[in-house]
Amino acid sequence: MTNFSTICKLCLVAATCFIKACSSSCPVLECWFVQEKTGRGGLSANQETSLLHIRTDSHTAETQPAPSDIPPDRVYFITDPAATLCHRSLNPPRGSVEKPRCEMIPFLPQPSTLKWVAPLTDSASSPIYLQADWFSTSLQGLNRQLAISTVTRAPTATKEHDVVLSVTSKTVFVQSRLGKPVLLDCGFWVDPSSPLSGSGFAVEWRYQFRGDGRLVLAYDGKADRLAKAQEEGATLDFDGLHQKGNASLILPEAKVHHSGMYICTVYLPYLVAQVAMELEVVEPPSLSIHPSPLPLTVSGQTLTIQCEASGFVPLSMELSWEFKGTDGKSRPLGSGSVTGHRQAWDGTYSQSTRLELDTTKLDLGRGGEVTCVAVHLGDPRQASVTLNVIGFSSPSIEDSMAMVGVALVLYGLIKFVSWTFTSSGSDEAVQQDKKDK
Ligand SMILES: *[C@@H]1O[C@H](CO)[C@@H](O)[C@H](O)[C@H]1NC(C)=O
Repeated sequence: MTNFSTICKLCLVAATCFIKACSSSCPVLECWFVQEKTGRGGLSANQETSLLHIRTDSHTAETQPAPSDIPPDRVYFITDPAATLCHRSLNPPRGSVEKPRCEMIPFLPQPSTLKWVAPLTDSASSPIYLQADWFSTSLQGLNRQLAISTVTRAPTATKEHDVVLSVTSKTVFVQSRLGKPVLLDCGFWVDPSSPLSGSGFAVEWRYQFRGDGRLVLAYDGKADRLAKAQEEGATLDFDGLHQKGNASLILPEAKVHHSGMYICTVYLPYLVAQVAMELEVVEPPSLSIHPSPLPLTVSGQTLTIQCEASGFVPLSMELSWEFKGTDGKSRPLGSGSVTGHRQAWDGTYSQSTRLELDTTKLDLGRGGEVTCVAVHLGDPRQASVTLNVIGFSSPSIEDSMAMVGVALVLYGLIKFVSWTFTSSGSDEAVQQDKKDK
C-alpha cells in the first residue's frame, strides 16, 4: 500500500515537472533592437539589447524575472499562438555558450508595388488596424536548425506584441547530390484573428549568388496565378500552400547552378516577412587510372601513371598518390603533377595528376598497389592499380635465406652421395679380397 502511494506521489511529481517544463519551454530571448537614426553625421544605426518574453497565450502570468542590465522600456512580451518561437533551438540549456541570433527592427506596413503582390491591397484606404507599433524580427536557432521571421503588432506605445505573420524555414543549410530532387522548406502562419488574414497572400522565391540575383518563382495566392517563372521545373505544393501555409520550393533535379542562397518571401496585404537559406549542390569525383592494368615493369624503368578525377562539385579537392607494397605497408608518393581544372557542360569539374614512378629510386620490391586518392570536402575516394616489377635489382632477405638453404641442402646431398660411393667401394674390395683367398 505504501509502495503504491509512493509511486503515485512520484507520478504526480513527474507530471507536474512535465507540465512545468512544457509551459516554460517558450524562451526569453535576448535580441538586438536596431533603429536607424538621422543625426548630424547622416544616417546611423543604433543597436540596443532588448528582451523578448515569448508566450503562446497573453493571459499567461509572467514568472521569469528580467535581467537587471536591460532597461525596462526594452523588455517586450510577445504572444505567439502558433508557438513557432517556442522551438527548442531558440531555447538553449542554461549556461550554454552558443545563443540563438535575434534582431528586431521597427516595421512600416505599406502596400507593395510588385506585380504579384499589388492586387492584395487594391482598396484605396488602409485599415485603421495598421495604426499601431509594428516590429519585424528575424531569428536563427542553434546549429542552423531553424530560421524565423515575424511581423508583430502592439497597440501604440505598449510592449505587448502579437505575432501577425511568421515565416519559418527548417532547411537553413541544405546539401544535395547532383540530379536529386531538392526541397527548400518554407512555411508561414497568419494570425486568424487579424483583419489581414483571409484577404490573400503572395509567395516569392528569389535566388542570390555572389551579387547575381534572379526570380525563381512568384505566386499570387489571391488570383491563384503563377508569374512567368524563370527557373525551369521549380514548383510549389499548391494544396499544402493554401491549406497549411506550406510554401516549400521543390526543385525536381539539383543542378550545379542551383547552388546559392534562396530567399522565401511571404506577402500579406501591407505586410512582408522573409527567410533565407543556402543550398549547396555536392558531387564527389569519379576516379580513373590510365593505363589500367599497368604494363609489366622491368626494374629500373620509369612508369607514367595518370589519374583523372571528374564530375565533381564544388571545386576544392586534393589529389595524391600512395603505394602499398607486398608487406602491406602504405607510403605516400606525393601529389604528382596536378593539372588545372576543367569545367564540363553540366558545371562539374575535372582535374588530373600524373605520377612519374621511377622504380630504381623507390624501393618498390616486386611491386604492389598504386593508389590515387582524392579528398573532396573531407571525404576521401580512391582508385588502385597493381604494379608488377620483374628483375628486381637486390634480392630480398627471404631470397638470400632461401639461397643459403638451397646451398646447404646441395652441399649435404653431395657429401652424402660421395660418402655412400666411397664406403660401398671399399666393401666390395674387402669381399673381392676374401674370394681371392
Ligand atoms: C511541404 O510540402 C512538401 C512537398 O509536398 C512536403 O515534402 C513537406 O513535407 C511539406 N512540409 C510540411 C511541413 O508539411
